[in-house]
Amino acid sequence: MKNILLLGFIAFTVFSCGGGASSSSTTTSAPSTDAAPDTEQESATESSELEPITLEISGNDQLQFNKSVLSATAGQEVTLVLTHSGKMAKAVMGHNWVLLKQGTDITMFATKAISAAENEYIPEGDEAIAYTSLIGGGESTSVTFTAPAAGTYDFICTFPGHYAAMKGRFVVK
Ligand code: CO
Repeated sequence: MKNILLLGFIAFTVFSCGGGASSSSTTTSAPSTDAAPDTEQESATESSELEPITLEISGNDQLQFNKSVLSATAGQEVTLVLTHSGKMAKAVMGHNWVLLKQGTDITMFATKAISAAENEYIPEGDEAIAYTSLIGGGESTSVTFTAPAAGTYDFICTFPGHYAAMKGRFVVK
């Protein structure tokens, strides 16, 4: 019952946004030059004219990411910049940023990753939506990908032993 009400609300909201965004058919609003910036966010998912976004996160020598939540919009081009703010070498304190498909068992994936040292701890398979290269202290890397469908996804560092502490949520709106 709650879902039905929610769907009704979403349908109403989308319908409302659609009406507001189509400035060509309704001429009673303000001049389009002023209206455009206001309606940009609401109509973005429909117009697929999303601005690319750059997200930054860093890992340190204490097995910590500095952010636990990152967010983007479905279909948006995302450039994730990972920086290692520590000083330890990649071989002992390597960090990467791996975005996982929903439903991926993190423990199983991370365990599989341990055996993939030759591939920077990215195991074979299709569980990873996107991932960066592995870096050590003072280094930086990035990966560009398209944000998946709306929902919440997990991201982790797959260096052996890191995933339990180095993880977070990637929220797609
Ligand atoms: Co790490």
